[in-house]
Amino acid sequence: MKPKILITRKLKSESIAPLYENFDVDMWNLEDEVMPRDQLLDRVKGVNAILCILTDNIDRELLDAAGDQLSVVGTVSVGFDHIDTAELEARNIKLESVVGILNESVADLTIALMINSSRRISESIDAARNGEWSTWSPYWLTGRDLSQSTVGIIGLGAIGEAVAKRLSGFGCNVIYNSRSPKPELEQSLGVSYRNLDDLLAESDFVTIHNALTPETEKMCNSEFFSKMKNTAIFINTGRGGLVDQEALYDALSSGQIYAAGIDVTTPEPLPTNHPLFSLKNCTILPHIGSASIRTRDEMVESVVRKLASHL
Ligand code: GLV
Repeated sequence: MKPKILITRKLKSESIAPLYENFDVDMWNLEDEVMPRDQLLDRVKGVNAILCILTDNIDRELLDAAGDQLSVVGTVSVGFDHIDTAELEARNIKLESVVGILNESVADLTIALMINSSRRISESIDAARNGEWSTWSPYWLTGRDLSQSTVGIIGLGAIGEAVAKRLSGFGCNVIYNSRSPKPELEQSLGVSYRNLDDLLAESDFVTIHNALTPETEKMCNSEFFSKMKNTAIFINTGRGGLVDQEALYDALSSGQIYAAGIDVTTPEPLPTNHPLFSLKNCTILPHIGSASIRTRDEMVESVVRKLASHL
């Protein structure tokens, strides 16, 4: 009998082709639709591997439903806050995720959000489209420059590093905060360490790249925003759970901070009547950080390879 793999999303058949010869593959077949939880709990029974994505909650209930033969869970994501890793470890189930592949795409989108929020690109597109463009005007839709600004990066992992590299091309002064200073990177990246309070006080842009853990959950709260400059811009391409969204709304609507650009929210999708959508100085993207065709294909293919080699 071939080992069984459950794939929780419809993926490109050419990306999963290597699995068909040696494995019994059960793939959800509705495009862009989540496999409902009851189906997941049913179809996971007896599988040896699960290939999931970040909307699947891989918890104790699901692992119980799968059974003892489950030996590996692969997620097409770099983050794994949707997976109970302690439970996997206790059951000796291997976790495979995406390593390295998406850093450049997410860093590109982070820079895009910085420029969008500082130069008011979304507002400008709406203004042109809605007929508000009467004449060239010296002070209309003026924003702030990324060039020569001070950018504070919170979390100097691989994505934070990729962001820092790009910022050197903009002549930015890049400062960072992480659990401990990383002197080995400071010279090569041209960045310098600050404690969190100093970073917030000095930065024109604050971008957060921490993993979501119980320690980092809602770390961007009202106290955090109150330490930022009134002219500063907040960027989040990590996880929505890092932010207290009510505090972000208050900071943006009161002028405590200048603008925000976020690719991640709680929940996802964010309901269209959410107050953050009513703010001109808040740009919200639908979690597309890694969504380039090349990156998404490579993410799937790398996890497919890892699962196959594990099994
Ligand atoms: C995306 O957010 C990921 O974790 O890959």
